[in-house]
Amino acid sequence: MSHATLTGLPQWQALQRHFRDIGGKHLRELFGADPKRGEALAVEAVGLYLDYSKQRVDADTLRLLCELAGARQLPQRIEAMFSGRRINTTEDRAVLHAALRAPRGEKILVDGHDVVADVHAVLDRMAAFSEQVRSGAWKGHSGKPIRNVISIGIGGSDLGPVMAYEALRDYSRRDMTFRFVSNVDGTDFAEAVRDLDPAETLFIVCSKTFTTLETLTNAHAARAWSVAALGEESAVAKHFVAVSTNAEGVAKFGIDTANMFGFWDWVGGRYSMDSAIGLSTMLAIGAHGFREMLAGFHAMDEHFRHTPLQHNLPAIMGLLGVWNANFLGAATVAVLPYEQYLKRFPAYLQQLTMESNGKHVTLDGAAIDYATGPIYWGEPGTNGQHSFYQLIHQGTHIVPCDFIGFGQTLNPIPAQGGGDQHDLLMANLIAQGEALAFGKTADEVRAEGTAEALVAHRTFEGNRPSSTILASRLTPHSLGTLIALYEHSVFVQGVIWDIDSFDQWGVELGKQLAKATIAELIAKDEPSLDHDSSTNTLIRRYRQLRDG
Ligand code: F6P
Repeated sequence: MSHATLTGLPQWQALQRHFRDIGGKHLRELFGADPKRGEALAVEAVGLYLDYSKQRVDADTLRLLCELAGARQLPQRIEAMFSGRRINTTEDRAVLHAALRAPRGEKILVDGHDVVADVHAVLDRMAAFSEQVRSGAWKGHSGKPIRNVISIGIGGSDLGPVMAYEALRDYSRRDMTFRFVSNVDGTDFAEAVRDLDPAETLFIVCSKTFTTLETLTNAHAARAWSVAALGEESAVAKHFVAVSTNAEGVAKFGIDTANMFGFWDWVGGRYSMDSAIGLSTMLAIGAHGFREMLAGFHAMDEHFRHTPLQHNLPAIMGLLGVWNANFLGAATVAVLPYEQYLKRFPAYLQQLTMESNGKHVTLDGAAIDYATGPIYWGEPGTNGQHSFYQLIHQGTHIVPCDFIGFGQTLNPIPAQGGGDQHDLLMANLIAQGEALAFGKTADEVRAEGTAEALVAHRTFEGNRPSSTILASRLTPHSLGTLIALYEHSVFVQGVIWDIDSFDQWGVELGKQLAKATIAELIAKDEPSLDHDSSTNTLIRRYRQLRDG
């Protein structure tokens, strides 16, 4: 498909003209002009309520953004993705994470082959294996049941499983230990296993390619640890399973492919937590809980695929992101879950959003002259409030915020002053959005009797954009809908920006250089170095420090 340059589109220019009208308006003014704005600029679907009235937009902005999406053929691109077209053009692959949660019996064809049947065959094997482990029927090499599960992987083969385990801890087996090892820093592995009995420990080696340096290094360390304690190489059969698309690599490592759970090249690493990569999640919450999570993903998939753009949650979220990045000039987004169980959600989103949309050329390889994926970061509320919120309220950068909260807590605890601690938590979420939007004027500060010298310091300009996402309760289902919401909003942005949201060439150069550098670090004799003067000096300095 050939694409007109984004900034040359009449729909883009219409947004630029619109920005000249609305860009200078304060949220106070926008709310003042429309008493129903808080209800009007909100949308609810599949159990998620999105209030975007505190974004610096009006109904016209949304209309114009949807027109831009139309010009970018977003509905057709959505259909192309769901129907298995090879939309990841730089890798010549289909993009079918939606097939991972398609119900049994649905058909999605890739090269004439129904992939949904394959997905359910793997899910059924995962469920049978999980049941064996959870029930104690799966015995370790010395006959003991498995009590500890360590998932080894990195990037998309780690961040999703870690996030989901933390998010769904309340639903997990409390008598089993779940840990995750990702970093090639030996400390990560050492700390994960130090208090565990190898006879009761199962390793899941997760790697799409089964070539990733960190994961293979940690998997070798795990095998050495296991075999040393259990006495025989044959122990591997009962203590190691693999999740990969690379059966040959798995077999070469020494894991029987009967103990391998597969997935496919049409699942991107950062879109794979609901594939077999989520085996640790299934072991923690059981097959039923895992299927509930898939149902949540699927509900959002259906909403995204079939809902007109102006009522479509991921489309609206994605388009607001474009508005903030390209018109407001916001370089970052803060994700602020007011839910302790979602503490790893921002880290998970960092890969999903930045590996997907951190791109500098269009699908055709042309240089881009507009901002693409913003920097995602965040921490759970209320902790962030006592740390970086100062900058969001009064700093010189615009930081659009996504507040995420739930109506019900999984851990009710009466609060001292009345109500539940959860009410205190949610009061903070709601108050932060209000403070950011409306601020406090100098006159209001003066009216409080503030000394004139401090008035400027205590004034809040406001007009800082945020969205609020509410759901009733954190469950496997609602987690699935929330993740799919972000997955699809990333896709929407990629379509507008005309980039490939599903490749990640930017991670390659560092990997290649590290390979060469390792040889220089471990060379017995002083290596002759041919890098720049900084890199050469760092290599020499490291060798001196290491060797004392
Ligand atoms: O380094 C980037 C990356 O390729 C990610 O995209 C991927 O999620 C991660 O490495 C891990 O890859 P693998 O699952 O093949 O080990």
